[in-house]
Amino acid sequence: MPDHTKPQFRPETLAIVSGYNPEDALRSAKPPVYMTATFTYPSAQVAKDVHRAYFDGDGPEAGGSGHIYSRLGHPGLDILEERLAAIDGTEAALAYCSGMAAHTAVALAYLKPGEGVVHGRPFYSGVDGLFNEIMPQFGSHSAYWTDGCDEANMWAACEEAMAKGPVAMLAAESPGNPTAALVDLDLLVKIAGRVEVAQGRRPIVMVDNTLLGPFHQRPFEHGVDLCVTSLTKYCAGHSDLLAGAITGRKELIEPLKLQRLVWGSHLDPYTAWLVLRSLETVALRTERAMENAKTVADWLKAHPKVAGVTYLGFTPEGTPARAVFERQCKGAGSTFSFHLHGGEAEAFRMLDSLKLLKMAVNLGGSNTLICHSASTTHYAVAREMRLASGITDGTIRLSVGLEHVDDIIADLAQALEAV
Ligand SMILES: Cc1ncc(COP(=O)(O)O)c(C=O)c1O
Repeated sequence: MPDHTKPQFRPETLAIVSGYNPEDALRSAKPPVYMTATFTYPSAQVAKDVHRAYFDGDGPEAGGSGHIYSRLGHPGLDILEERLAAIDGTEAALAYCSGMAAHTAVALAYLKPGEGVVHGRPFYSGVDGLFNEIMPQFGSHSAYWTDGCDEANMWAACEEAMAKGPVAMLAAESPGNPTAALVDLDLLVKIAGRVEVAQGRRPIVMVDNTLLGPFHQRPFEHGVDLCVTSLTKYCAGHSDLLAGAITGRKELIEPLKLQRLVWGSHLDPYTAWLVLRSLETVALRTERAMENAKTVADWLKAHPKVAGVTYLGFTPEGTPARAVFERQCKGAGSTFSFHLHGGEAEAFRMLDSLKLLKMAVNLGGSNTLICHSASTTHYAVAREMRLASGITDGTIRLSVGLEHVDDIIADLAQALEAV
């Protein structure tokens, strides 16, 4: 039994080699795309054996591909899932048609009527809505903390939730987007232990690792149970597809696999292949994007029309968040926000003057993408809540990409002249 926490190769290597053996596909150097809805059997007995192996785990089946119908799984998904688990340093993974499909799968599987989730705020708005608007329709409840580096603040949210019923899940996104708010993952796991003592049952600890990705934050090394990643962002990395992943121990992932075949939210063969291809370069791409982001953040900080820059690398020395940043993050990311002197009118003038940078709401792609937070990503969030999390009418989010950094800065410089 391989020890998944101590892989033979480092994650950068596993991102290129794991999950695929050329002998399985006519010795092709790279995995083929199996564009098929279903798989054939050489005999009725093999068909039965393949189904028994799938549903009862009673394999190995004699003959056949091991596959049934692409909603239940397909070869590209097997390779991708083995690779995602290997990179994250855990046992198993499932890939979904979007990050939100992955989050929904976790909530539907691990949040039952009467049970609660305690989560950090801000959390990506889709997930916040899932916990606070959708899941309560199925009888679950929620509470949230606002300072993920403060034990008393997080514990107060747990007590509030436990007063309503058992807490089944603690959920955190770290760093937050675009606020750069961190959640101390060691503290989160400690809080799960305190909840277990208080209610006699340990909640599952789930972390959304989309913003820093698998090479710059390692949630399983801190003892979390499940990791959800929107592969749409850095892992796929080209703003050309949507995908999501859940990684974790086999015992937690297996039940989700049987549910996914009912929801029909698996990742299709072609998109799975595209993600596999992207995983080979994610370490390299994120490193370069982070280097560019640091240069751009430093430049913006010194610009007279910029009131402030919310960038993880600028987390003040001597604060609890700084200590968490240094212990937990292997980089400062490349998505951050800056705040113009002025409001919407100034922000719009600047955005409308850009020539190179593209206005769009995705992040983590090769193109630098830019947007006005209050009127796009946070359009549906009440103004007081936006202001409380540091998003003003002059806040602009920047996902720094892979263009030459001088060209990014030159475009920002000429656009800022219009403010
Ligand atoms: C942190 C985070 N988690 C999850 C999601 C949802 O992922 P997807 O858009 O792939 O459904 C997003 C999307 O913006 C996100 O930023």
